[in-house]
Amino acid sequence: MKDTIESLRFRITKRFGTKTVLKDFGLEVRGRQFITFLGPSGCGKSTALNILAGLIPATDGDVWIDGERIDHLPPEKRGFGMVFQNYALFPHMTVYSNIAFGLQLQRRPAAEIRERVGQMLDLVQLPGFEERYPSQLSGGQQQRIAIARALVLHPRLLLLDEPLSNLDAKLRIEMRAEIKRLHTNLGLTSIYVTHDQTEALSLSDWVVVMRDGILMQAGTAQEIHDQPRNVFVADFMGFRNFFPVQVASVGPEGVVEGTGNGMRIRGRTRHALGPGAAAVAAIRPDDVQVGEHLGGPNAFHGKVDIVEYLGRENEVILTLEAGPRLWVHTPERVVPGESVMVVFPPEKVIFLPPDGEGVSA
Ligand SMILES: Nc1ncnc2c1ncn2[C@@H]1O[C@H](COP(=O)(O)OP(=O)(O)OP(=O)(O)O)[C@@H](O)[C@H]1O
Ligand SMILES: [Mg+2]
Repeated sequence: MKDTIESLRFRITKRFGTKTVLKDFGLEVRGRQFITFLGPSGCGKSTALNILAGLIPATDGDVWIDGERIDHLPPEKRGFGMVFQNYALFPHMTVYSNIAFGLQLQRRPAAEIRERVGQMLDLVQLPGFEERYPSQLSGGQQQRIAIARALVLHPRLLLLDEPLSNLDAKLRIEMRAEIKRLHTNLGLTSIYVTHDQTEALSLSDWVVVMRDGILMQAGTAQEIHDQPRNVFVADFMGFRNFFPVQVASVGPEGVVEGTGNGMRIRGRTRHALGPGAAAVAAIRPDDVQVGEHLGGPNAFHGKVDIVEYLGRENEVILTLEAGPRLWVHTPERVVPGESVMVVFPPEKVIFLPPDGEGVSA
């Protein structure tokens, strides 16, 4: 394999007509990493990837690789590989011809093409599939061929746009591991687009969370998961419960207390929230404890509204005595109408700026 990149830096604005779909979307990352663009449908992930690939022009901005500006180069001069959601294999061509296509354009000797196609088929674990047509392959096999077709050209940067979203849940998990294996074994730099937070967290060294064309937060998977910077990222990362509060007191090491809706909530924060500031206290459904004999800080009464059995645990929706609704995942057996005590362990509660703030990088 040819060497991958050492660094990538870009800042892009993109408008379609009067609609701005990427607003100064920028990033600076080291190479040899698995990077994901994560965000809801329509937030601009594919547009950003296509601009990096050179498939569509940016309205404004620049893209730099290893200190060299590359946004004026046509796609074929960038040396990137691309894998799309719908595989985009040539249906009238065999697996062999699909993978060989780029090498033939480069007028490589026939013997070299044969060898490299064979190596790629071994790599994606489909040896002997040369003469099949795409219609004779399963979705997972087609996606392996699409990956082989991208990798055979030894791309210095691999771009993948929701490559697994057409596959069923079980195959998705298998192929996810497969992509990570290839990335690691070949020492690639990969940018992977997805709207699935589990996929992003399990694959990535570096996660970039986007909303409406704006970078909301970039960090390691663990940072994004444990320390979302704002309400949007927290919501995307599974903090289902949000309580508007006013900060009552601030202690050492980010300990903070707030009041709202007649509740006094203790948590921690990484933001400069002074007494009197408006904030949002957030907790995941999995982190709420349910039981009769609970007490201490953050203990509240509630009444069970809905119980949904999920197998190992229940999803419970209850109404807190103070008024707000609460989503809980608990192995405890509770029934609708029952009164229960819930506790938010203070170390699991994060305080964030009100929604719409906490965005700047
Ligand atoms: N060629 C185009 N002309 C006009 N608007 C476009 C064009 N391509 C994309 N858009 C708009 O740009 C926004 C971002 O689209 P994009 O495809 O990048 O989103 P996405 O994050 O990839 O979404 P998804 O997860 O659904 O694939 C959307 O509002 C979309 O409607
Ligand atoms: Mg897309």
